[in-house]
Amino acid sequence: MRKLKVAIVGATGAVGQEFLRVLEEREFPCATLSLFASARSEGKTMRFRGESLPVRALSEARLAGHDLAFFSAGASVSREYAPPAARAGVLVIDNSSAFRMDPEVPLVVPEVNPGDIAKHSGIIANPNCSTIIMVVVLKPIHDAATVKRVVVSTYQAVSGAGARAMSALFEETQAYLAGGTVTPGALPFASAPKHYQIAFNLIPQIDVFQDMGYTKEEWKMVRETEKIMGPGIAVTATTVRVPVERCHSESLNIETQRKLSQEEAREILARAPGVSVVDDPENMLYPMPLFAAGRDEVQVGRIREDNSIERGLNLWVVGDQLRKGAALNAVEIAEEALRQGLI
Ligand code: A2P
Repeated sequence: MRKLKVAIVGATGAVGQEFLRVLEEREFPCATLSLFASARSEGKTMRFRGESLPVRALSEARLAGHDLAFFSAGASVSREYAPPAARAGVLVIDNSSAFRMDPEVPLVVPEVNPGDIAKHSGIIANPNCSTIIMVVVLKPIHDAATVKRVVVSTYQAVSGAGARAMSALFEETQAYLAGGTVTPGALPFASAPKHYQIAFNLIPQIDVFQDMGYTKEEWKMVRETEKIMGPGIAVTATTVRVPVERCHSESLNIETQRKLSQEEAREILARAPGVSVVDDPENMLYPMPLFAAGRDEVQVGRIREDNSIERGLNLWVVGDQLRKGAALNAVEIAEEALRQGLI
């Protein structure tokens, strides 16, 4: 197989570190791997395949010459550096929200819409983590019974808000248990005009508020699902940050056109790629963030028919948002692009 010159932009961040692990575990065909972050990280090193690789400050010139670049340094860095990199012939797989709704940029979850990869013109967007985790489960249900409407509530881990929010959970917990003063500074997001403690709390705000009182994260779940799965599925979302280190959980209420029994839904999900059914109430088995961490599949359990409507299902879904929700999905896009001969 052809070996590629690969770059990770934002290598020192929570998702960036996961990229190194996923590339190594999957034996991705890297001829070289370049690590970029902000100027603050220049001089740091990171381990990859038993070697110590330098982290360098990002620049346009340094990115040119790579075959493939995974971006995970926030939307403003992507907006500035991804288009010139694409023009220089680098295939950019962007984990930020910068280009997700751009009609020229495919938004891809390989289990759902691998055919869209071929439409790229230099940039492919990786969807929002909560969207990825939801659509991997929705797709097989949609293929079997046509999904009409989804009501989703999320329980999102702090690592989804970056390395600083992850530290905040530990530091606040330690300070709280030691009887000291907790000084929140990372959530709902670092640049927010005020901050709330996440230890022993939850925060029903992820990102800024937009139209109709919904947050940007909630609108992302609505609009990105439509772009990935096509029109016709009505989605309404409530997104919540919880004091969990890793893995997003989602309660999905799904209305379908054709009735699916609980048994049929379980069989369909058991066969679905990227999904693992963990559903044995008698033995108290259901997906939980602690046990889904580090796993590639999205876990689904608590599979029930909705007692309040004629054709509905309730599901409980948990996925590692740093893996399938971010780094793994992006690497799978690259693997699929390689398979399709597009890199
Ligand atoms: P750094 O560690 O040098 O700040 P997270 O979302 O987990 O906080 O990670 C954000 C990632 O984006 C980090 O790797 C961070 O690097 C990187 N980053 C932030 N600003 C820039 C920038 N202007 N140029 C390149 N990388 C950046």
